[in-house]
Amino acid sequence: MNTKSLVSISDIGREEILSLLDKARKFEENPNRRLLEGRVVATLFFEPSTRTRLSFETAVNRLGGRVIGFSDAATSSSSKGETLKDTIKMVSNYADLIVMRHYLEGAARYASEVSSVPIINAGDGANQHPTQTMLDLYSIYKTQGTLENLTITMVGDLKYGRTVHSLLMAMRYFNPTFRFVACDELQMPQEYKDFCTQNGIKFTEHKDFSPEVINSSDIIYMTRVQRERFTDIMEYEKVKDLYTLNNAMLEGSRDNLRILHPLPRVNEINQDVDDNPKAYYFDQARNGLYARQAIICTLLNIPVD
Ligand code: CP
Repeated sequence: MNTKSLVSISDIGREEILSLLDKARKFEENPNRRLLEGRVVATLFFEPSTRTRLSFETAVNRLGGRVIGFSDAATSSSSKGETLKDTIKMVSNYADLIVMRHYLEGAARYASEVSSVPIINAGDGANQHPTQTMLDLYSIYKTQGTLENLTITMVGDLKYGRTVHSLLMAMRYFNPTFRFVACDELQMPQEYKDFCTQNGIKFTEHKDFSPEVINSSDIIYMTRVQRERFTDIMEYEKVKDLYTLNNAMLEGSRDNLRILHPLPRVNEINQDVDDNPKAYYFDQARNGLYARQAIICTLLNIPVD
């Protein structure tokens, strides 16, 4: 990676993505290595998280490093009015690397500009979630045997969903065909559709999560409608249950189809899908450990054999 921090998936190119996937594969073979002995990683979560924070912390622990940080900003001095700049400057005195989730778009980029150590963006508002993208790519590669020429259907909250925004951008190297399934209120933003057009990426938009869409997909990427992004709760109530995948809907689907979801889920995947061999979301979350080990070692210039 020829960047000091990982803020946006657009910071890394095709070869760097493939190199990270290869390292993730090596970590899956053996996640317990003493590669971070003597290193300290800070996890600063200004927004709630289960998978991202815990998989980063597990990644560091399994590599022999130490973790400091907070999972609730109310317990940090930001609750006393300390600025993000001052917080980052302080923590970069203590840690070799900072993993940060923040509710403001652009917060990770700003942090990377004031930090003396690498910043990993663990999600900034509705903008980007690049480490989720690396585990998504690893999951797609593992289940499909390739990243090339796949039909990927994204469903649900395509407006605020930072995971779909990052994944869409990363797939530009691999000739995907996208299907965007969303209601009027949660359509894929124009800037990402323009990105597709500029990069020669084929896409179609759908309001109906129809059998035609499901049965022609290699990957269905479900997303949660994110209550925390709505200013009007009535708007959220109106759209929150519009798209729910259930087992019967998968009857005519391709053998290679896999269902992904960054999680947490609420109602968008019925629990009767969980035992279907095409459900991959829990394995996907496990892949986060390996992908994040690969990212940490790359940013700290630690070779992985
Ligand atoms: N996928 C994801 O970012 O999950 P968390 O919000 O639990 O970290």
